[in-house]
Amino acid sequence: MALIPVAATLEGCASTAKALTVTDGVLNVPLDALGNGNSTVVRANGLANKLMISKRSDGSYTALELNCPHKGGPIKEKEGQLVCGWHGSAFDLEGKLLKGPSKSGLKTYPVDADGSMLRVRLA
Ligand code: FES
Repeated sequence: MALIPVAATLEGCASTAKALTVTDGVLNVPLDALGNGNSTVVRANGLANKLMISKRSDGSYTALELNCPHKGGPIKEKEGQLVCGWHGSAFDLEGKLLKGPSKSGLKTYPVDADGSMLRVRLA
């Protein structure tokens, strides 16, 4: 299951991040938030960190928390990887660890598509 490469850099997405609300442990994200690209960055009231939601090549979706497991640094896309700006840990677009000092991958959440809505299950 490969991810379709992110069309825009996360830095570019930061200014367009959508503010949403978590209800009963579920974050509802309109499918059209992905626009013509295959990923978007969202903020949610009640969530400390931004999430990157991406569409995989098989049509499924994934949600990654953009917070480094090492010491909480910011994660940005760089040359097809997700890289921490503080000490250089790197992750693939599924959040799997590629390079430390982090010892684990990014936190991921399951995403279900329901009509025109993506439901990110946070709890
Ligand atoms: S906080 Fe991300 S590598 Fe240290």
